[in-house]
Amino acid sequence: MGYNVAIDGPAGAGKSTIAKQVAKENGYIYVDTGAMYRGLAIHFLNLGIDPKDTEKIIEACKDVEVTIGYESGIQQIYVNGENVTAKLRTEEVGNMASMTSAIPEVRGKLLELQRTLAREKDVIMDGRDIGTHVLPDADVKIYLTASVEIRAKRRYKELVEKGVQCDLKEIEKDIEERDYRDMTRKIAPLKKAEDAILVDSSDMTLKEVVNTISRYCHR
Ligand code: C5P
Repeated sequence: MGYNVAIDGPAGAGKSTIAKQVAKENGYIYVDTGAMYRGLAIHFLNLGIDPKDTEKIIEACKDVEVTIGYESGIQQIYVNGENVTAKLRTEEVGNMASMTSAIPEVRGKLLELQRTLAREKDVIMDGRDIGTHVLPDADVKIYLTASVEIRAKRRYKELVEKGVQCDLKEIEKDIEERDYRDMTRKIAPLKKAEDAILVDSSDMTLKEVVNTISRYCHR
């Protein structure tokens, strides 16, 4: 059994940036489970399926395989053998992932992959249901959050820096909708595990958050 750190929290809390850094500093393999849901979302988008058409989504799950690999230490996502990593981080893919992740068959498709990785390696795994559902016996559980306003502002800044035109209010609305969907779905909803450490990064710098979480991650 590997040593397992679970980091859960809402959209835009900085989980992946922070988990990546903590993993690097402490010699863990970083596993981004959101990227797996995004990989499946690309498959559904390629097939032109409406995210509300649950039957078609379930059908599309039957002939898709998501696998991961590492290139220079960076996680890569393969969908039926094709590396889709560069296509994962768009709003369209994120929304499709968020809508379809409520379907049990979609979650079932990824659960074994996530558990196998954690069994074999020392991992920091981030997502929404890692501490509550995927790895209930994780050695360390962190629930990383920040206010909606702060998360929206950070996302806005990130997009502006990339030269993407965007609207702060719309980003805020999008984050609220995604939180609501993730927290109210029937299967494996986003919530803090009882034994998770709560880290609210609203008034913390990136470095402070990394240092805080790193302190809990010593094997
Ligand atoms: O974290 P990220 O924004 O990449 O995740 C995309 C979507 O995948 C989330 O909005 C959520 O609905 C879903 N997800 C999930 N369970 C996880 C990770 C992500 O339901 N463990």
